[in-house]
Amino acid sequence: LKHFVTVEDLSNDQILSLIQNAEGFRKQTRKVVLTEPVYAANLFFENSTRTHTSFDMAERKLGIQVIPFDPSHSSVNKGETLYDTLLTLEALGVQLSVIRHSTNNYYEPLINLNDDQHLHMAIMNGGDGSGQHPSQSMLDLMTIYEEFGHFDGLKIAIVGDITSSRVARSNMQALHHLGAELYFAGPDYWYDSQFDKYGKHVDLDEIIDQINVAMLLRVQHERHAGDENESQFSAVGYHEKYGLTNKRYHQMKDEAIIMHPGPINRDVEFSSNLVEAEKSRFFRQMQNGVFMRMAMIEAVLRGNHLGGLK
Ligand code: CP
Repeated sequence: LKHFVTVEDLSNDQILSLIQNAEGFRKQTRKVVLTEPVYAANLFFENSTRTHTSFDMAERKLGIQVIPFDPSHSSVNKGETLYDTLLTLEALGVQLSVIRHSTNNYYEPLINLNDDQHLHMAIMNGGDGSGQHPSQSMLDLMTIYEEFGHFDGLKIAIVGDITSSRVARSNMQALHHLGAELYFAGPDYWYDSQFDKYGKHVDLDEIIDQINVAMLLRVQHERHAGDENESQFSAVGYHEKYGLTNKRYHQMKDEAIIMHPGPINRDVEFSSNLVEAEKSRFFRQMQNGVFMRMAMIEAVLRGNHLGGLK
């Protein structure tokens, strides 16, 4: 892979191979030795704890030199474009950039260059607006596969603020492709009929006792400016109607699991006492994120012949 910006173009074999490599990193049976130095920068223009730190950790574990970049103190604030910022970092020696940005598809002009543009850097998407979150999706797939050993026929409910969620978008595309049976639940006003091609929009209580995975999504208040449903939002009301209450938890199958990309709004999407409950894979997802990002970075290094990897 030259760049890793979406899950849309991945084949099922590529996904399974990335999961296998990530498991190898987790079990320490897979080793990658860079024979040439690699320099990476992580450019997070939106807030992040998990993705940023996890890419940083994955890069260091692979032996990559991480060059600090802080958007709030960069020349972006003097009007320098993202493209020019990357050209600058490339001139300084950075070969790989992980970017999170609020603009959907920000990466398109960075990877589909005009004849007069010469950016060679590998780009990995750390999340674009409400577009894609490929590394979160890949670590979610790894977590599901670890648990069930397959995707085909698994009943998976994606619950909550679906229209705002890049995690939901990436996961519905990948899981549908992998043969999972998808259900969507949550407020009608945060659902779009364009998702109907991937699954069925249902009431969570209709399916809670049948699903294998409940994938809860954060209510993204920061993306709801001017939304009248936001001004009428009640945490208690949302939790009762759409959240994982203790009652719903106990209705789930014994082997079912709960996932959340984080950060969690406690007692909104998730009853606070359930965050660390037996069925919760919240922390396993984060652990897997480091190993999956190592596998994704390795694929991109190989795709660009960086670090002496072929
Ligand atoms: N899941 C996720 O993207 O979390 P952060 O925003 O903390 O990176």
